[in-house]
Amino acid sequence: MKIAILGASEPHLPLYLKARDMGLETYCIAWAEGAFCRDYADHFFDISITEKEKIADLCAKEKIDGIVSNALELAVPTMAYVADKCGLNGISYQAALRAVSKKEMRKRIEQTAVCRQPGFTVLRQGDPVPEIFPAVIKPTDSSCSNGVSKVSCAEEVQAALERAWAASASDEIMMEEFIDGREISVESISFHGRHYVLAITDKETTGAPYFVETAHHQPSSLPDAIQEEVRNTVRDLLDALELTDGASHAEFKITDEGEIYFIEIGARGGGDCISYDLVQLSTGYDFVKGMIEVALDRFTVPEAVAGNYAGIYYLSQDTSYVRDFILKNRDKNWAIRWKIDDVPLKSLKRSQDRSGYIIYKSDHKIII
Ligand SMILES: Nc1ncnc2c1ncn2[C@@H]1O[C@H](COP(=O)(O)OP(=O)(O)OP(=O)(O)O)[C@@H](O)[C@H]1O
Ligand SMILES: [Mg+2]
Repeated sequence: MKIAILGASEPHLPLYLKARDMGLETYCIAWAEGAFCRDYADHFFDISITEKEKIADLCAKEKIDGIVSNALELAVPTMAYVADKCGLNGISYQAALRAVSKKEMRKRIEQTAVCRQPGFTVLRQGDPVPEIFPAVIKPTDSSCSNGVSKVSCAEEVQAALERAWAASASDEIMMEEFIDGREISVESISFHGRHYVLAITDKETTGAPYFVETAHHQPSSLPDAIQEEVRNTVRDLLDALELTDGASHAEFKITDEGEIYFIEIGARGGGDCISYDLVQLSTGYDFVKGMIEVALDRFTVPEAVAGNYAGIYYLSQDTSYVRDFILKNRDKNWAIRWKIDDVPLKSLKRSQDRSGYIIYKSDHKIII
């Protein structure tokens, strides 16, 4: 069978290795620049992953059996479009477009009322800004916390607006009620409208104003009753957003009162090594294989989970102690992988400012 894989930068290597492992003929589609994975594919096409028509034509001509990608927001609409056009398994193009717009997601959840979410206002250039604080100002179409800021008073609004506009390709940005609480994400896989929640991930972030993630841990330490409610909420959200097939990564804030607030969902596995590494390390479920199976329309239902602890700590100026932690522990049997970039540490304003990490798997949560 033949599988098209969108995106070829180094983090996506697990998709290519797994597809090869599964005996598939692989079609790598990405810009040539930085296409690290092209050497691991049977065929390479130098096409931007946003060129949905070109990719649909190619997949039709080559009689591709499935199209897959992961942790890449830009690939979500293309994957859906190609699947629609070529009769392959996937979500609808309409659902994909909604899932890459924070505004459209919020509108849908408002209509269907399946989950609590922050109050929100969509802003165009020059619109009056509601004076309701604290609030979060963010692009409707961005990721990696680019352009996201918390504002506590009117004086902070202008700088936050400028940051959001600078990170946005759209003519709209959003202002949301700020929800205080713990942050989690939920990693799931869906097939033909059935949803399998695989893991709940606890996050550590820099907090306000920029909320860059500094660590992830699975399983979550939230009380079981809240975790159960989170799982049910995610299934309802996936239904409401018509995310019937493929991996997903949903983000929530949980208040001290245990109320669950929807932040956003990605119609793809989570970045930050969550979908490529942590889910399989903590649960034993081969998430990447699952994504490929869904694309090929021949899914095996996930089995009972392994019950390990897994996590990642990121190095940055804000978490400079992680460097010593890595150097001291890199040879331990629980240290799965680590990296320290040879660059000066940066203060975190977005995910790309991080400069190293260590991933662990253990029978307990590793706390620095
Ligand atoms: N309404 C809100 N209330 C409280 N915190 C929020 C709110 N909106 C966003 N945040 C915080 O900002 C972070 C980034 O926001 P959001 O997920 O909307 O942007 P993003 O660009 O998709 O970021 P990422 O790719 O890191 O998930 C959230 O994970 C959360 O910590
Ligand atoms: Mg997010």
